[in-house]
Amino acid sequence: MNALHPDSKTILITGATGNVGRHTIKALTTFDAGPADARGPTATGGVAEIRAGVRGRGAEDRLPHGVLPVHLDFADANSFAPALAGVDRVLLVRPPLLVNVRRYFQPFIRAAEAAGVRHVVFLSVMGAENAGFIPHAGIERALVESRMAWTFLRPGFFNQNLSTTHAADIRDHDRIFVPAGGGVTAFIDTQDIGAVAARALTEPGHESATYTLTSDDLLTYEEIADILTEALDRRIAYERPGALRFIAKELREGTPATFALLMAAVYLPTRLGKAGRHTDTLRELLGRNPVSFRSFVAKHRQVWMRD
Ligand SMILES: NC(=O)c1ccc[n+]([C@@H]2O[C@H](COP(=O)([O-])OP(=O)(O)OC[C@H]3O[C@@H](n4cnc5c(N)ncnc54)[C@H](OP(=O)(O)O)[C@@H]3O)[C@@H](O)[C@H]2O)c1
Repeated sequence: MNALHPDSKTILITGATGNVGRHTIKALTTFDAGPADARGPTATGGVAEIRAGVRGRGAEDRLPHGVLPVHLDFADANSFAPALAGVDRVLLVRPPLLVNVRRYFQPFIRAAEAAGVRHVVFLSVMGAENAGFIPHAGIERALVESRMAWTFLRPGFFNQNLSTTHAADIRDHDRIFVPAGGGVTAFIDTQDIGAVAARALTEPGHESATYTLTSDDLLTYEEIADILTEALDRRIAYERPGALRFIAKELREGTPATFALLMAAVYLPTRLGKAGRHTDTLRELLGRNPVSFRSFVAKHRQVWMRD
């Protein structure tokens, strides 16, 4: 129980162990959601309780002190009502492997409504407004049709993709292997998305808002490879595979076929030169500069080192 304010919000964070959920909890528990002069209990709008929706045992060990773990599995509708009981606000994160909106997320959204949730902040994706077929767009539609207030966060590509999904390729094979061609990508750090999410969950004025979020880094994967090369002091190459070669590699490594196809599709806008949009929204919301890709690399250098 995080008793900062006597009579206020109970927030459920889904994807609590993931890239953005983790940083949202951190921002909520350390008041790291904005410039120094805005920090303090009022900056988080008086949070009574932060609940972390987690699967399986052991996840609670990875949560900050004072955050209450509750069992939540989007594949198990029986877990929804207990996790949502008494909750006012939800950060909704769609786990990457769950693509069926009707099966997993419409029931969760209905359960949230039934539990009396007032506001859902949804981690969507940049460009969802032009890609009605992707699950994020389906979830956005379901939230707009609900009786709850909503805020959509539409970030660019996460810096953290390099320290998670691509980490083994960089560490063990000195390469980045994504079908992004020579296109530019708008990157963003999940620490910054977490800070925005914390604000949207605790401050008034974010209802019905859609935030397209980027840092100031518009980079090609060639440039990313160069930044890593400089920071790691060994050559990291961007291999520029085509979509078919990329899918074949993913299948060889055991990625399920649907997910491999989805991953390849994710890089299509970059290939087509449509993933390089920059916005100042993050700076406007947080009153500070976004985390840069270079500082992210410096901070996480160890992830790509071999010993
Ligand atoms: N990566 C990007 O560049 C990017 C850019 C824009 C938007 N997005 C979107 O951001 C979202 C999150 O992606 P991510 O890669 O950062 O993933 P993530 O949040 O790091 O990982 C998924 C989270 O969901 C949880 N989870 C998995 N299956 C679950 C289930 N059945 N029920 C409840 N929770 C479950 C995982 O918990 P466990 O610990 O239990 O596994 C984990 O906390 C996705 O919708 C993605 O499309 C990603």
